[in-house]
Amino acid sequence: MDPNSGVGERSTVDLSVNAGHTDVGRLDALARPVDVALERAQTVGVRHAHHLNSAGSALPTVAVVDEVIAHLRREQSEGGYEAAAAVAGRVEELYATAARLLGARPEEIALSDSASTGLRLIVDALRVDATSRILVSRSTYVSHALHLLSLAHETGAELIVLPSAADGGVDLDELARQLTGGPRDIVCVAQVPTSSGLVEPVREIGVLTRESGALYLLDATQSVGHLRVDVDEIGCDALVTTGRKFLRAPRGTGLAYLRGSFLERLAPVAPDVRGAIWTGAREWSLSPTARRFETWESSVAGRLGLAVALNQLLDRGIDATEAYLTSTGALLRHGLAAIDRVTVQDPPASRSGLVTFTIDGISSETVTRRLAVRGVRTVSVPASHGQWDLGLRGVPAVVRASVHVYNNDADHDALLGAVAEIARETGR
Ligand SMILES: Cc1ncc(COP(=O)(O)O)c(C=O)c1O
Repeated sequence: MDPNSGVGERSTVDLSVNAGHTDVGRLDALARPVDVALERAQTVGVRHAHHLNSAGSALPTVAVVDEVIAHLRREQSEGGYEAAAAVAGRVEELYATAARLLGARPEEIALSDSASTGLRLIVDALRVDATSRILVSRSTYVSHALHLLSLAHETGAELIVLPSAADGGVDLDELARQLTGGPRDIVCVAQVPTSSGLVEPVREIGVLTRESGALYLLDATQSVGHLRVDVDEIGCDALVTTGRKFLRAPRGTGLAYLRGSFLERLAPVAPDVRGAIWTGAREWSLSPTARRFETWESSVAGRLGLAVALNQLLDRGIDATEAYLTSTGALLRHGLAAIDRVTVQDPPASRSGLVTFTIDGISSETVTRRLAVRGVRTVSVPASHGQWDLGLRGVPAVVRASVHVYNNDADHDALLGAVAEIARETGR
C-alpha cells in the first residue's frame, strides 16, 4: 500500500455499520478533497510514528515551526520588545484571520495561552453569585468543570449537569425545561468533548439560549480546525479554543471570541496593562474590544506560528478538512467495531475525528502503552478527565485515537492491526 495515499481511497467501505451518525460516502462527494500526500510532505512528524493524537496535540507543519524559530532568532539578535515591534503588523492580522475562520469581527477576538485560561477569564467576568444557574453539558472538560464546581461551592450558584439524550448529546427538551429566562442562566457546552467522538447539537442549543436570553459559552477546543464553527450560526455569546490541537499551531496558544453585545457587559476581574489603561490615581479604562481579556506577556513566536497555521487551514478549506476528518474517524470506528473483544465507546452522535474504544480485560492505559511500542500514538483518557461523561457512564478510561489531514491508510491499518494483535494477546 502506498504510505502516502489518503484514507479517502477507502470510501467504498459501507460506513453505515456501527459508525454512528455518519455521512456515508462523503469523501466521494468532496469538491476539493484534502491532498494527503502534500500534507504529509509538509509534516515531519509523520516520518516517525503513526500519530493519532491530534486531539491531544497535533503535528505542526514545517512552515509553522520555521516561523516560530525565526522569531526566536529575531528575539535573540534584536531583543524581545524590538522583535515584537518588527512583527506587530503580522500579529495584528491574526485577529482578522481568526475572525474570518469563526465568522466573527476582529474586535471580538482575544488571544490567550490556552482554552482554559480564556474560559476562566470569561466565567470570572460574569460575577457568578447565588442567583446564578450554571447549566453544563456532560461533555464538559475537567478543568472547566473544576472551576465551575469551585465557583458554585463558593458562591452558592446552582450547578445543573444536563442529562444526555439517547444519542449522547445534550437532552434539548430538558435544557428547554431548565431555562428560566434571562442572563442568570449560563449554559456551558463543549462542542466535542475530550472523552468521546460526540458532537453536541450546538446550533439547537443556540436557538434555545437565544429564545430564553440565557448566556451561552461554547468550549470549541476540540472542534475549531476540525469542524466548521461559525459563531453566528451557532448563536453562542463566547467561544474558546486552543492552538495545539486541530489548528496545528504551537503549544501555549489559544483564542477566544466574545460577541460584541456580550462584551460590553463584561469586565475582567483582573484587568491587565494589555487590556486596560490606568488613566488616573484611582481610574482605569478597559479596551473597547475583546482584548480587554488579554495579558501583556505572551509568546509572540507562538502567535506568529498560530497565524501561519490558521492561514494554512483556510487555504486547505475547513469543509474539506471536516469531511476528511469525520470520514476518517468513521472508518476507524467501523474497523474497530469489527475486532473481537473491542468495544467502540463513542455515543451514537459521534461524527468527528475522535474515536474512543476499550479492549476487554486490559486497561486503556496499558493498551495505549502497547500501541506506542508498535509506533501508534494514542492516549488513554481516564474518567477523572470527564466525570460527567465517562464517570457517569461507569467507564474507567478509554483509548482515544484522533486523526488529522496527514493521517493515511498506513496509519489506519497500523492502528487496527495493532489493536487486533493486543486484543488477541489479551484473550489468550
Ligand atoms: C474539550 C476540551 N476543552 C478544553 C480543553 C483545555 O484546553 P487547554 O489545554 O488549551 O486549556 C481540552 C483539552 O484537552 C478539551 O479537550
